[in-house]
Amino acid sequence: MQLVQVTDTHLAAAAGGTLLGMDTDRSLLSVLEALGRVHPAPDALLATGDLADAGAPGAYERLQSYLDAATPRHFWLPGNHDDRATMVAVAGEARLPRELRLGVWQVLMLDSQIPGQVGGRLGDEELARLEAGLEAAAGAGLFTLVCLHHQPVPVGCAWLDEQRVADADRLFAVLERFPGARGLLWGHVHQALERDRNGLKLLCTPSTCVQFKPGQSDFAVDDEAPGFRWLALSPDGGIDSGVTRVPVDLPVDLESRGYQ
Ligand SMILES: [Fe+2]
Repeated sequence: MQLVQVTDTHLAAAAGGTLLGMDTDRSLLSVLEALGRVHPAPDALLATGDLADAGAPGAYERLQSYLDAATPRHFWLPGNHDDRATMVAVAGEARLPRELRLGVWQVLMLDSQIPGQVGGRLGDEELARLEAGLEAAAGAGLFTLVCLHHQPVPVGCAWLDEQRVADADRLFAVLERFPGARGLLWGHVHQALERDRNGLKLLCTPSTCVQFKPGQSDFAVDDEAPGFRWLALSPDGGIDSGVTRVPVDLPVDLESRGYQ
């Protein structure tokens, strides 16, 4: 199974809007153009939150049209900047599935949003959904890739790590009981990371627009290019994955000291 992930598209209410000086429609379109050249027919495209910068319907309408041009099989989950009800109103429930079945793989899409807050938490309902999904997958002999918006582990930027999934200990306690859980995939931190945690792949992915500088205590914009992630899910439960950066000739405010 060939998957691609785009994240943190931060589209404004109207085309031409910017995040930290960067035109987020134009950067997303550049990323999708590059993605389409290398992965013209993915089995699924996962869009892992902060899809709109302020939850505006127009942002989701444009996102839908941009992603429709890449593949009919694109699926969304909300981030802290999103409004799930507006996402569903624009794109329909089927665009925000709780789970996807792809051959011998199951993809679970979790919601780590705490309405009105920047940081993330799964809470009882999402953790119960995760556990039920993993139990069903174990019974059916499926492998599982779990997706969410916020980072469940510290990434090394103090200002961002305050925002990590507050109940990540509970998340990992569930995941550790299920050896078929092979991957954990997220966005939010606008930078790339790949780790292994006892056979569980931990993957996070650059934004399709502005990047945050790794290893910083305080907010800092990076001059790295936007990008996307590809994932090859094997029938034996293996995950190969990598990030593709897409240089864009767009201004970005590298000196900015803040971000909402
Ligand atoms: Fe974001």
